[in-house]
Amino acid sequence: MKVFQDKNELIRLVGRLKENNNSIGFVPTMGALHDGHLSLIKEGFHKNTHVVVSIFVNPTQFDNAEDLKKYPRTLERDVTLLKTVSKDKIIVYAPTVDDIYGDDVASEHFKFSGLEHEMEGRFRKGHFDGVGTIVKRLFEIIKPDFAYFGEKDFQQLQIVKKLVENYDIPVKVIGCKIHRENDGLAMSSRNERLKPEYRKAAPFIYKTLKAAKTKFGSKSATKVTKWVEDEFAKHNLLELEYFIIADEKTLKPIKRKSKTKSYRAFIAAYADDIRLIDNIALK
Ligand code: PAF
Repeated sequence: MKVFQDKNELIRLVGRLKENNNSIGFVPTMGALHDGHLSLIKEGFHKNTHVVVSIFVNPTQFDNAEDLKKYPRTLERDVTLLKTVSKDKIIVYAPTVDDIYGDDVASEHFKFSGLEHEMEGRFRKGHFDGVGTIVKRLFEIIKPDFAYFGEKDFQQLQIVKKLVENYDIPVKVIGCKIHRENDGLAMSSRNERLKPEYRKAAPFIYKTLKAAKTKFGSKSATKVTKWVEDEFAKHNLLELEYFIIADEKTLKPIKRKSKTKSYRAFIAAYADDIRLIDNIALK
């Protein structure tokens, strides 16, 4: 398996592959890979001959220095796991901060039609400028035909689609279903940092989302929101940061239910000092 740290070598290889009519899928990651990432890569092989996986803990999207420091970095283990999917058709790009940013480790500023101000944008200042900066750079380096993003970060997915539209980037962005553990917890690289009692408690997030979905069939968004907040208030390990029912397109909190719109419920909660997010479509 080829593992590149230097973008110029990667650019040369991808250029050669494309000249030979290969199609390039791309799965951007921050490493600490799990089955959720592998499912995106497998999805990538449905439409592409090769899949580039970037492994890069992007400093500009963290608003919390401690979170950035503690983010798991497990390149060797990641490469071993990737080999279980394909030994020769996966190309790994694991750059240094310098290869991406040079000596200016800073974000560009983006407008994503207001999507950036909701939820994660409100609670993690500068987060989507950091995500926009790294994803745009990776698209410029890799020039993939298709790029795969998980719906766990649904707001990120919508923002990346907007980025591609705004900058006319020739890539098709594919959103992929949330991959869950057997107990319902959405797969995340952060899960491995959960202490056992918090790991045991964490499926409460998805359980509550599913119950909220059922309640939303007959109750108003305000009532459902109050119910979720009360449930979390009674929980002695998980701390709710937000629960929001929002329009899937604008991500603005729902005002009044409309039959013509699609809604989604979003949660961010702390399990000890680990921040977990999840969401569910409310059809
Ligand atoms: O979802 C992630 O892991 C990151 O936000 C991404 C897309 C790899 C950008 O750093």
